Amino acid sequence: MTILVTGGAGFIGSNFVLDWFKSNDEPVVNLDVLTYAGNLRNLASLQGDPRHIFVQGDILDRALLDKLLAEHRPRAIVHFAAESHVDRSIHGPAAFLRTNIDGTFSLLEAARAYWGALEGADKAGFRFHHVSTDEVYGSLKPSDPPFTESNPYEPNSPYSASKAASDHLVRAWHHTYGLPVTTSNCSNNYGPYHFPEKLIPLIIANALAGKPLPIYGDGQQIRDWLYVSDHCSAIRAILAKGQLGEVYNVGGWNEMPNLQIVHTLCDLLDELSPSASGKSYREQITYVTDRPGHDRRYAIDARKIERDLDWRPAETFETGIRKTVQWYLANQEWVRDVQSGAYREWLDKNYGAREAVQ
Ligand code: NAD
Ligand code: DAU
Repeated sequence: MTILVTGGAGFIGSNFVLDWFKSNDEPVVNLDVLTYAGNLRNLASLQGDPRHIFVQGDILDRALLDKLLAEHRPRAIVHFAAESHVDRSIHGPAAFLRTNIDGTFSLLEAARAYWGALEGADKAGFRFHHVSTDEVYGSLKPSDPPFTESNPYEPNSPYSASKAASDHLVRAWHHTYGLPVTTSNCSNNYGPYHFPEKLIPLIIANALAGKPLPIYGDGQQIRDWLYVSDHCSAIRAILAKGQLGEVYNVGGWNEMPNLQIVHTLCDLLDELSPSASGKSYREQITYVTDRPGHDRRYAIDARKIERDLDWRPAETFETGIRKTVQWYLANQEWVRDVQSGAYREWLDKNYGAREAVQ
């Protein structure tokens, strides 16, 4: 038994792979092209572990996909690989359409060919899980109820439009070809190995470096926040018990305005790593021009996955955000290497041989 994970060197994918081996020994083939967001250093604790087979490659490389599927015969595919940063999608949407739409199409076609040739229990048990986002549903007004799985799709950024397109492809491959798929639409994750271009790790890194803490617009945009290992446990629950063709919304019931998140981070840093100047990190907060097309509010109704799959988040926002700040304080070298690009040199030095295995 083996599973194939795409994008397993990114933020959520690497947390998923690390968490996977905490609860079972089933091997993981981890296919990741290592864009700027892919960092094998996240998986350094698995170096030499035969359960983890890392392959550097692109989900658009159909020949590679066919080869990996034929060789490892996975019982499931968990598809994380994507371009994931909204601001980057505004500056350069092409990569988002390529990976998120064309890449998902390529993976679906490879999965369809592989699954089509399976027989008996192997065929019946095969699963394709697509990891998606709450952003496909668009923006909520203050009094709107949280997103359910039947909300209409109203994506507003190039990123969310490309993820919405990928969700539609996954749905269509199930309805037309019978491919055994599940999809999850999750809210904002946070936790270890979060790339410091995203709000929470950026604020922690900038605060410690004495730099401005940039708040887009008025800082009153609302997101729902989920500790990353709770997203991973939700995906494991869907893989184990999810109904084919179903969509599951995943969230932490933690709606919060961005400014409140930044205040919380500053207060935790004031407590755990006070500034040498004696001033609160809150004094570094700086309002900057808003993100174009910035969605005002996301909120997730997670009752379906709670009811049908008996899933619950293990962390509250208070416990998760404290763990996160503590992790970043203990791993400042990881942040420095990401910011300087040094992790790329480190990769070549330490993983060159491993990358060549396939
Ligand atoms: P990330 O940007 O940190 O990681 C993406 C990974 O995919 C990287 O390791 C990258 O190298 C890899 N990748 C990119 N293009 C590839 C390609 N063509 N072939 C193979 N690998 C490729 O992203 P993340 O935050 O870990 O998000 C993972 C998934 O979860 C994405 O699909 C994203 O849309 C979804 N998601 C993210 C969040 C969040 O808060 N971060 C919330 C909900 C859903
Ligand atoms: O909702 C799920 C989505 O969450 C995922 O699908 C995306 O992959 C993930 O990147 C995340 O998207 P966001 O745009 O919500 O995340 P980001 O961390 O970029 O921004 C969070 C909020 O903070 C958002 O309202 C924009 C704001 N922000 C962000 C940055 C980087 C700031 O105010 N200042 C900043 O410097």
